[in-house]
Amino acid sequence: MSSPDTKAAKLIRKCVIPAAGLGTRFLPATKAVPKEMLPIVDTPTLQYIVEEAVAAGIEDVVVINGRGKSAIEDHFDIGFELETTMRARGKTAEADKLRAIANLVRIISVRQKEPLGLGHAVLCAKSVIGHEPFGVLLGDDMIDAEEPGIGQLARVYQQHQKAVIALMEVPDSETHLYGIAAGRDIGNGVIQIDHVVEKPKKGTAPSNLAVIGRYVLPPSIFPILEKQTTGVGGEIQLTDGLATLQKTEGLLGYKFQGQRYDAGDKVGYLKANIAYALKRPDLRGGLLEYMREVVKTEKP
Ligand code: G1P
Repeated sequence: MSSPDTKAAKLIRKCVIPAAGLGTRFLPATKAVPKEMLPIVDTPTLQYIVEEAVAAGIEDVVVINGRGKSAIEDHFDIGFELETTMRARGKTAEADKLRAIANLVRIISVRQKEPLGLGHAVLCAKSVIGHEPFGVLLGDDMIDAEEPGIGQLARVYQQHQKAVIALMEVPDSETHLYGIAAGRDIGNGVIQIDHVVEKPKKGTAPSNLAVIGRYVLPPSIFPILEKQTTGVGGEIQLTDGLATLQKTEGLLGYKFQGQRYDAGDKVGYLKANIAYALKRPDLRGGLLEYMREVVKTEKP
């Protein structure tokens, strides 16, 4: 991934990655392993998300974690024993690759002591973020794009000096699964949002524009989240905080460029694995051969 406009993205120096969820949809895999560490091919989903942030020029990544998340900290740390053993065995290139993960970016771990919702998770980063705009990246949403997803949003934030969230059209049958935003198209994929609601009941969505897990927010979201009462699912919802921000300061949506995978859903997760494997020259041939075989032999 490359950023054609890293100067714009530099405006955002910090980001928050909430990773404190229980990952119940992927049990039993997530009984002892954090959901964010499940691999797409051979790389944890969280590493792709961190790499997206780094490609957009982000310097500090605040990971909000809960119990049993030490694997996340270890992954972005130096694996001293592993590296030393590999170097002793002459596997220098592999050891260098491991070291590169530790050198990617500064990771700051913040504990969310209770799972009170996404809005609360973001609020946990308040003191680390301070008084500057910041990105939020949700680990379930993988965005494969030429220009990093969060970098696209940072560019729009810089142009308009207003909070901006990623949007994507979804079918009517799926609107109840997302935050949904409605508003006026002001050109170049930018929407002036006039209404945003978390997981509207079937048949009540104000549009088909779903909120996808990338946000660039001003620090003024924090006092809003501090006052936020619980919403859908009895949780403190980020979307409810955004609805208040929309009324006080305005809120933009951006129809980002790129392919999105929902790694939080089993079929979405499998699709992401296939798509990322097909991009790998060492795996593509064998996988295609198997897929052709499956299509020929499997009955729908
Ligand atoms: C979260 C947000 C929702 C957003 C979605 C995108 O929901 O609350 O507004 O549309 O991520 O993936 P979750 O899927 O975590 O329930």
